[in-house]
Amino acid sequence: MSAPAKSILILAGDGIGPEVMAQVKRVIDWMQKKGLAQFALEEGLVGGASYEAHGTPLTDATMARAMAVDAVLLGAVGGPKWDDLPFEKKPERGLLRLRKDMELFANLRPALVFDPLVEASTLKPEIVQGLDIMIVRELTGGVYFGQPRGIETLANGERKGVDTQVYTTGEILRIGRVAFELARKRGKKLCSVEKANVMLSGVLWREEMTKLGKDYPDVQLSHMYADNCAMQLVRTPKQFDVIVTDNLFGDLLSDCAAMLTGSLGMLPSASLGAADAQGKRKALYEPVHGSAPDIAGKDLANPLATILSFSMMLRYSFDLGAAADLVDQAAKNVLAGGFRTADIMQPGKAKVSTSVMGELLIRELDKLKG
Ligand code: IPM
Ligand code: MG
Repeated sequence: MSAPAKSILILAGDGIGPEVMAQVKRVIDWMQKKGLAQFALEEGLVGGASYEAHGTPLTDATMARAMAVDAVLLGAVGGPKWDDLPFEKKPERGLLRLRKDMELFANLRPALVFDPLVEASTLKPEIVQGLDIMIVRELTGGVYFGQPRGIETLANGERKGVDTQVYTTGEILRIGRVAFELARKRGKKLCSVEKANVMLSGVLWREEMTKLGKDYPDVQLSHMYADNCAMQLVRTPKQFDVIVTDNLFGDLLSDCAAMLTGSLGMLPSASLGAADAQGKRKALYEPVHGSAPDIAGKDLANPLATILSFSMMLRYSFDLGAAADLVDQAAKNVLAGGFRTADIMQPGKAKVSTSVMGELLIRELDKLKG
């Protein structure tokens, strides 16, 4: 009996989203043809694309589909066209609603330096060669969602903007466990990042992580202030294995870590919810890069981050580690073959378009599994 098809909701979104997603679909087709897995694909709109069609960055119907499928694959949201929309209509709200309503509290952002790209980093090769960090960002709490928030007018006519940083022990512990478990499977080092020197939510964060650490005696736990972490990331990034941090610091530090690798266009991410009784987690996968409106529609974007996000889906949602390894290896082989999209172009290499990069990847997959 063959396994039931795995259902995926594809939300290509805005800007370069649709063109990079087109390359992922080729990989999905390839896997089905090879009999490696069967997928039931659905497509929907998110962000500006959804706003144009429905007047909202995410419809309730699409939200319901996202809740129902095994995993969601998202391209990118946003663009200057929608910058002046009211806050609740902005493309980003669609993504934030997906994260919040699916309760995707654990955001995994690997920063991995591919050997052929070591020269693409703005840092010296010896600082980044072999770099392999995992940032675990809390994604449904903190200042992104804390109450009260708002803009109000004071009696004296001044206006006041308020956001609230807030974390409960439950929120800290559940993200902590994800991070400790991951560290256990990797280099067994976990660095917990906050600003306990200034923020009380940071004091609580540090206390709870320290307590939790007692359950993971095999993992070496350290603590670092977020500003120092930003500095250490560009000074000696290889000191880190897994970093766990809150929503806002994780947003900043993951961009910083991404750049160490030489290209945002290479980095995937996974956002996971809590495991249910069967061990299944709600999950959304997306590249770390944005919608890059300046190059949208020009066949210039790097599709690898979204393809590698699909590979993370194979690994974390579908337990198809061997298939994920194939995709990762094919990406490495294309790079080793000297092919580069514009964002990672280097002297002496062959510059290729989005679609040619996709084509080359399929060719490598064929070589790996003809
Ligand atoms: C990210 C992005 C988002 C965030 C935006 C698009 C809302 O920067 O995924 O890192 O701030 O979380
Ligand atoms: Mg960000």
